[in-house]
Amino acid sequence: MLTKALRSLSAQSSFLKTASLTTPKAFAFGDWKPNAPKYELRYNEGSYDMPHPVWDMKSAENVEITHYEPKDFGDKIALFQAKWTRGFFDLVSGYKPGQADENGYLERLVRTESLSGVPGMVGGMIRHLKSLSRMNPDLGVIHHLLEEAENERKHLFALLELKKPSLLFRIGLLASQTYFIFWYMVVYALSPKIAHRFVGYLREGSTQVYTHAINDIDSGKFPNWKDMAAPQAAIEYWSLPADAKFRDMLVAMRADEVMHREINHYFAGLKPGERLPGMTNLVSGTFKNNKFQAAPKDSQ
Ligand SMILES: [Fe+2]
Repeated sequence: MLTKALRSLSAQSSFLKTASLTTPKAFAFGDWKPNAPKYELRYNEGSYDMPHPVWDMKSAENVEITHYEPKDFGDKIALFQAKWTRGFFDLVSGYKPGQADENGYLERLVRTESLSGVPGMVGGMIRHLKSLSRMNPDLGVIHHLLEEAENERKHLFALLELKKPSLLFRIGLLASQTYFIFWYMVVYALSPKIAHRFVGYLREGSTQVYTHAINDIDSGKFPNWKDMAAPQAAIEYWSLPADAKFRDMLVAMRADEVMHREINHYFAGLKPGERLPGMTNLVSGTFKNNKFQAAPKDSQ
């Protein structure tokens, strides 16, 4: 049974791998396009990773630092909370943009990445359970949140190749993770809009931190990182060239942050019950005389 399942998975992954060998394209939900680099969707054969974006590295070199101006009270709460969270991690890591050394960046990034995988998993779980209990389809959001959670966990493990946390560091992370999981669960249950806006703002900050690190490598401030090789696990996950540098890995991770920034701000703007545009598998309807009839588009 298991062998059969693995064979079927392998056949599927080969298909996905072949299917992804196209020209990198821009992501889109219907007419909406994020301000993000071009990508191909990849499934890493032989791994349990979910299909995820692999970035066109040329396109990923040029990302924009953007900021979504808060438009209502909910946005302002989300921005305040994101600023507070980022400030807290700057403080406990002793991180100052442009002034931190390699260790300062690593400490700040490991701390924040240890929490960054939480929102996608919590949001995905709440939406999944809501869908089951209400017997309503989710309209396409769950998959993106779960993929984001896995992707952010990959960020943490890529950085842990360089930093081995002490016991005290781990205890501190565990305490902040416990608090953050329950806090975000309550926020998402009360207002998915505020929760997604908050994550959008967090990712705005992460994009800045990764950009500062990349700029500091380029300016020669971090000679140790300039020629450092990317970890093998990162090369495989982001499909980087075999001789990829640590800097290339940071560029790929920043592209992930940009995509999460854009998608979370987009999800924050969805009206309750609004489906993601362009998702053909979400068509609903009824069976009449053993024939499926799709419901009119505006009623779906
Ligand atoms: Fe991240």
